[in-house]
Amino acid sequence: MGGASVLVVDKGGRGNAIAWCFARSPQVERVYVAPGNAGSSLMEKCEQVPIKSIGEMVRFVERRGVDLTFVGPEGYLSDGIVNRFHRAGLRRIVGPTREATILESSKCDTKDFLHEIGVPIPEYRNFSDVEEARKYVREFYEEHRDDPRANLVVKADGLAAGKGSIVCNSLEDALYALDLIMVKRFFGDAGRRVDIERRLYGRELMFFVLTDGRTVLPLEAAMDYKPAYDEWDIRIRRYWGGINPNTGGMGGYSPHPWLDEGLREKIMRRVVVPTVRKFRELRGLEYRGVLYFGLMICEEDGEQNPYVLEINVRMGDPEAQVILPRLETDFYEVSEAILEGRLNEVRLRWDPTYRLGICAVSGRIVRSIGEDRGTDWFYGGGRGEEYDERMNIGYPGPHITSQPITGLEEVDPRCIVFHNGTEFARDEKGNIDRRRILTSGGRVLTLVSRGETLQEARELAYREIRKIRFRNMRYRWDIGKT
Ligand code: GLY
Repeated sequence: MGGASVLVVDKGGRGNAIAWCFARSPQVERVYVAPGNAGSSLMEKCEQVPIKSIGEMVRFVERRGVDLTFVGPEGYLSDGIVNRFHRAGLRRIVGPTREATILESSKCDTKDFLHEIGVPIPEYRNFSDVEEARKYVREFYEEHRDDPRANLVVKADGLAAGKGSIVCNSLEDALYALDLIMVKRFFGDAGRRVDIERRLYGRELMFFVLTDGRTVLPLEAAMDYKPAYDEWDIRIRRYWGGINPNTGGMGGYSPHPWLDEGLREKIMRRVVVPTVRKFRELRGLEYRGVLYFGLMICEEDGEQNPYVLEINVRMGDPEAQVILPRLETDFYEVSEAILEGRLNEVRLRWDPTYRLGICAVSGRIVRSIGEDRGTDWFYGGGRGEEYDERMNIGYPGPHITSQPITGLEEVDPRCIVFHNGTEFARDEKGNIDRRRILTSGGRVLTLVSRGETLQEARELAYREIRKIRFRNMRYRWDIGKT
């Protein structure tokens, strides 16, 4: 066995999937996950390190002599974790510098950049003045009043935890979105500017790549399921008023059903390669790490054409949880190649069989909060905000946490259970009790199965997830069905 140690910075299921991938490398002896979750300590060679600040992470890496750090989420990256590590003389950290995260942290600047270099994007305008933005949306809807498909998407410029895009169906929607983002500052300072783009109609695709700033390697893709509920749930629960909000993802599977070689090559040639190359040539920034292109694939004159809706500086979650288990190439070697600028020497090999992931999430609150002593609850993003029964739909709305999870040890070993929002229970003295695991978030865990066919993976996943239980647990029934 090799002796390398790795620190993965992430607290969710993506972080566990990255850690799992490193742990498979024969060169790696230990994988630390910070802040991590209970599941980070249940995987072979892996251990949760519940530290949160960048300073603590720098000190941890120095003290333990960690060989390589890999950063998952955009928050730490845009807070400058890579810059801080570099300043401390720690160069072996995979991820873009704070300056390079502008690709995610400013929608407006990124649209200008993509426009400048000729990468296909929807028609767009940026505004920092709400009156000018209102005038523009009024004129747009007036000009297109006879075209019901002429619509806008209003986006907060800055980071908004993936929630800052509002898809509009009318002038009223667009004015409401401007009010919410720029006046009420629902997403805080992220709403100082807005990017307003014309809504495109097509098929959405999340496209992930690894890059050392010069060579770009596409990862395999995953089919994702964003709405919180499947059609069956919505039909039988009409009293919820048809509310079916988008989530970060309720599951997925890989390989992707319709991304073929021709389309992949077109996306690389028209979008990905020019973005990385011109970012270096025009902005002087060598991007190292993961890039995630949110694309709309539009059918035009019999051709499939990709348009960039957004760029993120991280892997998608839960997509990473079904993609990374298929990677056969040693992830430690791949990460070293990114750091050393020799990704051109790497060829990614993939297991052709299916991985299918079902996210189990915290369900709705069924008892009043008063009765539920000892139970944490959340309304929207804020603990203890005013409770509204119409929004009581479970994750991504209000949900209970701190519920014991059982049955994890009964799951078929052909499946992997990546934890998203879990923690170890504590005894009366406050000591961690590693035998008891509790829910601690909306998305709790993802069960990932493997199958020679999609059907086989689906059957295994749905059989095994029934063994896991926590109060008000729920999941979609249609992952891999459509
Ligand atoms: N699953 C979507 C995201 O990670 O943003």
